[in-house]
Amino acid sequence: MQKISAILLVVVLLCAISNGVLSFIDGILPNGQFEYGPKPHQMKGTRVIDPKAIPNWELTGFVEYIKSGQKQGDMLLVVPEGAFAVRLGEDASIKTKVKVTKGLFYSITFNVARTCAQEEKLNVSVSPNSEPHDWGILPMQTMYSSNGWDTYSWGFVAEASDIEISIHNPLTVEKDPACGPLIDSIALKALFPPRRTNQNMLKNGDFEEGPFVLPKTDVGGVLIPPNIEDDHSPLPGWMIESLKAVKYLDAEHFAIPKGKRAVELIAGKESAIAQVWSRRLQAKCMHFLSLWVMPTTLVRVI
Ligand SMILES: *[C@@H]1O[C@H](CO)[C@@H](O)[C@H](O)[C@H]1NC(C)=O
Repeated sequence: MQKISAILLVVVLLCAISNGVLSFIDGILPNGQFEYGPKPHQMKGTRVIDPKAIPNWELTGFVEYIKSGQKQGDMLLVVPEGAFAVRLGEDASIKTKVKVTKGLFYSITFNVARTCAQEEKLNVSVSPNSEPHDWGILPMQTMYSSNGWDTYSWGFVAEASDIEISIHNPLTVEKDPACGPLIDSIALKALFPPRRTNQNMLKNGDFEEGPFVLPKTDVGGVLIPPNIEDDHSPLPGWMIESLKAVKYLDAEHFAIPKGKRAVELIAGKESAIAQVWSRRLQAKCMHFLSLWVMPTTLVRVI
């Protein structure tokens, strides 16, 4: 009997190990910085004509492969990390397959630069997805950084261990197929939704659980888009209740009073984050809300 349980244990351990080896570990996705690109014969000018020309990615529509320093009219296109990025023309998309752990919550982080004056949006989605029409439309009207590149994030539950992540530049009324945002440095991170504790009635009150922060960004923050549903918030426990994004900061780039992460209400009065409490919870005890507020509008709830 003892022998059988020993064998069972070995089998269970092996399964656990092989699972760990196969699924994705937090960080930049394979070729997520687009440093490996198309061969010259797979391009026409800057446009990629073979949908499989960028390793690990599949392209649809008008996608350009952009080298840092390339000019567009008078504008110099500079890529923040590495030497290459992609540009999604109207209705174009890029997608990649990733092995993850089924049932876990993940957040995706990526860099975006606007290159046209028109209003731009990006549509992020993951398949399989049992919910119909369940994609994230992230508005890019406001530019928050000074170098032109902003980092965005979005969360989702992996419904399978093989998923496909897609970033799409949705159709707008204005018609310029070559117009569209530049994309670079796509990263993924598994998040473990924290619970309320005896010490803190707020979930994730210290914001330690949140999207992957790209190591080399000048701005050092990740935008959490407004108006996304709870189950797509990359900041577990919290909703962005305003029309403008908030910024997720790390201690490597900012002075944070406690822990490693904080939230900046970058749009001032137009920024709000919220956590919903049930009536039952509200009635249970007296509450004290204490929070760290930095003069730079850096806020931290404890
Ligand atoms: C968002 O992207 C998904 C996957 O590419 C697509 O099925 C869906 O129609 C897109 N939504 C919009 C509004 O363009």
